[in-house]
Amino acid sequence: MSDKPLLEQIRKASPLISVGVLTADLMSLGSELKLMDTAGVKLLHVDVMDGCFCPMMTVGPGFIKALKTTLLKDIHLMIEEPLNKLESYVAAGADMITIHVESCRHVHRVLQKLREFTNTNDPNRGILRGIALNPGTPLEVIAPLINELEMVFLLAVNPGFSGQKFIPSTKNRLSRLRKMISDTKKDILVGVDGGITRDNIADVARMDADIIVTGSAVFDGKAPLENARFMINAVNDVAKKS
Ligand code: DX5
Ligand code: ZN
Repeated sequence: MSDKPLLEQIRKASPLISVGVLTADLMSLGSELKLMDTAGVKLLHVDVMDGCFCPMMTVGPGFIKALKTTLLKDIHLMIEEPLNKLESYVAAGADMITIHVESCRHVHRVLQKLREFTNTNDPNRGILRGIALNPGTPLEVIAPLINELEMVFLLAVNPGFSGQKFIPSTKNRLSRLRKMISDTKKDILVGVDGGITRDNIADVARMDADIIVTGSAVFDGKAPLENARFMINAVNDVAKKS
């Protein structure tokens, strides 16, 4: 089941920030999530890491299921061979699932399988399917997958840790990716993930991504509501001027 309504909903609202939840105050996660809702954040980004595909281990389906939120659950799977694990993330309430092309022996099959699922939050919807590319992965890998995805994310850091520095070559990769996608005439959302802070959010917004993932710049342990508002305003200001 593809998910045109959700794709259109995000397209209409884009550019959007997707806020990484892992640096939130997990002892008061409910109120932290409410602050994001108050700020007008629409997407909650969850970095699932298995310690094999990338160095860190983080959270899994149980944590995702426990997230009581109106925000859409944007699940970034940084795990080896996700094929047989997809169902547990769908059951946990994922709205968007992004897999790494580098983590699957049969990436096309994983995307085909993702299309079969119904969204646990809404039986009339499916799951938005994303492919994420590490900084060292050629963009050309998306060509054979273009009919099996709704989103492409470029990692602006090497996956595994939050708070890293944005890799400058991401800018050129984003514009080449945009061109590749526009040549296909398909409606595919473009995202960028990693190393996006107050200092570079305006520059990144000018790179014309539809979804901008930012974690520790919002959940910094001090002022998540103000941070989220700052990031949203910065993105909206750029969008208005473009
Ligand atoms: C790569 C993850 C990113 C990253 C975001 O490690 O996919 O989502 O952790 O964290 P910040 O925004 O703190 O770089
Ligand atoms: Zn991520």
